[in-house]
Amino acid sequence: MRRRINRQSFRVVLALLGALGWTACPSASAGEAPTPPKPDREAVERGRKALTERGYLYAEWSDAAYRGASKYWDEPAPDPEKDPEGYARAFGRHYGFHPAPYPNDGLPMGLKRSVKRDGVTRGMQVDCMVCHGGSIGGKSYVGLPNTQIDYETFFLDMFRADGRRMPIIPFILGTARGTTNAGMMSVVLLSFRNSDLSRRTFPVPMGSNLPELDAPPWWVLKRKTMMYYDGRTPAASARANMQFLLAEKSLAEFQELEPTFRDIQAYLMSIEPPKYPFPIDAPRADHGRVVFEKSCARCHGTYGETVSYPGKIVPLDVVGTDPERIRGMADRAVAHYNTTWFAEKHPVQTDEEDGYQAPPLDGIWASAPYLHNGSIPTLNALLDSSTRPKRFTRPPSTDFEHYDSQRVGWKFEEVAEPATTKKRNSYEAHFIYDTSRYGLNNGGHTFGDKLSKDDRADLIEYLKTL
Ligand code: HEC
Ligand code: HEC
Repeated sequence: MRRRINRQSFRVVLALLGALGWTACPSASAGEAPTPPKPDREAVERGRKALTERGYLYAEWSDAAYRGASKYWDEPAPDPEKDPEGYARAFGRHYGFHPAPYPNDGLPMGLKRSVKRDGVTRGMQVDCMVCHGGSIGGKSYVGLPNTQIDYETFFLDMFRADGRRMPIIPFILGTARGTTNAGMMSVVLLSFRNSDLSRRTFPVPMGSNLPELDAPPWWVLKRKTMMYYDGRTPAASARANMQFLLAEKSLAEFQELEPTFRDIQAYLMSIEPPKYPFPIDAPRADHGRVVFEKSCARCHGTYGETVSYPGKIVPLDVVGTDPERIRGMADRAVAHYNTTWFAEKHPVQTDEEDGYQAPPLDGIWASAPYLHNGSIPTLNALLDSSTRPKRFTRPPSTDFEHYDSQRVGWKFEEVAEPATTKKRNSYEAHFIYDTSRYGLNNGGHTFGDKLSKDDRADLIEYLKTL
């Protein structure tokens, strides 16, 4: 299909694509920062409502596009008029949205009803939970990364069901289920603004080329002083979370919405991880803790009675994981961000060595696949690099039948031939994660390789308790 650039819809798409992500990195100083103030319960509750009950962007697609998208599916769909709930479930399964654990006007989590710019025509939009809302074992959670979303197919189908062409997007939206390019969306959106956030016709050259990413779980945010995968942006920045709105809002509107986003941030900081639902072998887990404290805690911190989190930025040559998230963020893009309102109180740090921040591991059992790019399907494969699959299937759903409680993560099959072949269309191809693609390498983090088989199994048992 021939696609035409249309700047208006291009910006709108970027808005949808929304999101953050590009500002992150190193903080050797993480330990020195003051502990955040105790969450204010009223702010948390206001934030929960502001996040789940309200939309912040105009509708991108009509209701008819939502109801009509199923004409592009191979499988049959329930009638959206006669069985709206059945249709919402089928829509969610098809594109990788999860049922909303809060009232959402009958839509799956991640979609939100809204109006068009005229203020009357009804339609819908995506919100934060398209990437930050997931489910596991049939239960949905706000803040569990959405590891199922097929962003590209969802976009394409919604535009064509609306009778419009999908605008050209100058970067990869997501080649595999569960990865999205939130970082590049932010960079491109910001490139159409001057330092004072007034709009530009021609973009500021940013020189960035960020890869698709797996979203981090929100429940670890409260532990962090610095956020995003590179750990360079202060976690206290509520403004950073507002980059999602850059396609639409003026500086005055951003200023007006800031208190709301501070509440949302308070809510994010209050989220707790789900507990491991299957039996845990306590003696093995106890020994696993010893292994963890010896081999892992210096980077990942400690859990349980003595909680600590060093917020360590591990240089690329030490961690050895795919470098493109770090290298793809050009200094120019960071410098431009740092001249804007977003960075006024919380600039992105630029004086530290580049690397990935070792994340807190709370609730790690629930957030497979692993690493910033989601390139490793299980903890066992993460901790024994010889068993990592080069090209593997993503599960058809997050039901427990697809969960591997031994290796901890998602069951998978290795795939020999490339994802896109004549016999597979792009929808089917997105069920295959191919580590040879840009930004998706599964090497590095070999810190578990030297462990004995028993120690590794005990360590995995311990990780289930976090
Ligand atoms: C298109 C997917 C997508 C959308 C939409 C999105 N995010 Fe994210 N978010 C991500 C990804 C991916 C990252 C990791 C970015 C990185 O570090 O490079 C991230 C990172 C974050 C972080 C930092 C977490 C940490 O521990 O470092 C916060 C906070 C966050 N997002 C909040 C939000 C909020 C609030 C919204 C809605 C206003 C939102 N996000 C919308 C994908 C998304
Ligand atoms: C030298 C520091 C260092 C050591 C030691 C280390 N890690 Fe990591 N770990 C990291 C960094 C940095 C990342 C993030 C890398 C990335 O995403 O590319 C990471 C990522 C992970 C992840 C994936 C997190 C996620 O949300 O996807 C897990 C799980 C993990 N480490 C467990 C362990 C265990 C268990 C050990 C002990 C055997 C260990 N690590 C030892 C630095 C370290």
